[in-house]
Amino acid sequence: MPSKRTRLIAGNWKMNNDVPAAKELAEALVEKVPASDSVEVVICPPTIDLACTSHKIAESAIKLGGQNVYWEEKGAYTGETSCGMLKSVNAEYCIIGHSERRDYFHETDEDINKKAKALMAAGITPISCCGESLEVREAGTHVAFVVDQIKKDTEGLTITDPSKYVVAYEPIWAIGTGKTATAADAQEVCGAIRATLAEIFGQETADGIRILYGGSAKPENIAGFLAEEDVDGALVGGASLKADDFAAMVEKAAE
Ligand code: PGA
Repeated sequence: MPSKRTRLIAGNWKMNNDVPAAKELAEALVEKVPASDSVEVVICPPTIDLACTSHKIAESAIKLGGQNVYWEEKGAYTGETSCGMLKSVNAEYCIIGHSERRDYFHETDEDINKKAKALMAAGITPISCCGESLEVREAGTHVAFVVDQIKKDTEGLTITDPSKYVVAYEPIWAIGTGKTATAADAQEVCGAIRATLAEIFGQETADGIRILYGGSAKPENIAGFLAEEDVDGALVGGASLKADDFAAMVEKAAE
């Protein structure tokens, strides 16, 4: 069944690229990433690179996203970035709840929920990440684990426009490891995510929410994931740092 949802390919640069390197990559992406009505393209550089990247992609169809945000408007929160600051560089998206932030920086579902609410109030689309560890996967409780994350991360959210809330399913054991989930693994969990979203927000809203797969996604395997009913795009780490690979993935998504 062809999806009514516009596909989304988002690049997560993580902590890579200083300002000169960010400018160079943004320029290459503007040149190489095909513009298409059937796929939305977002790049999420480190905070320090947001302003220069925004400038470089301004005339292109590529959109900008942050990798993290803090929910307070302003004040004594050393090292943090507000929604208003993201808006000021024309960021339209922001990743929240990435497993690296959950693991290394001890972010909780409650934090992620607050971030989602702040972003949505500011008109920025969250790309809210979820996903299980290898231990949970091996115990066979991955679906229940992710469903629980979704429930906590969306608690009390109001979604009026489903295209303005995005979920990324990223099994932690497949991130940066070269070990990909199979398309069927991705569909199993993405299907459960959509069913959970339908329980919470109603079927119509759930049918409009994009669910991305992330974890060693690359040009060679992206088509398989996108062929699944509930996979609407990808959150790409490593392969988003190479303009040719990222452009190739966008091209496949546009087919
Ligand atoms: P990867 O990262 O594509 O390098 O596995 C994905 C992510 O962590 O968003």
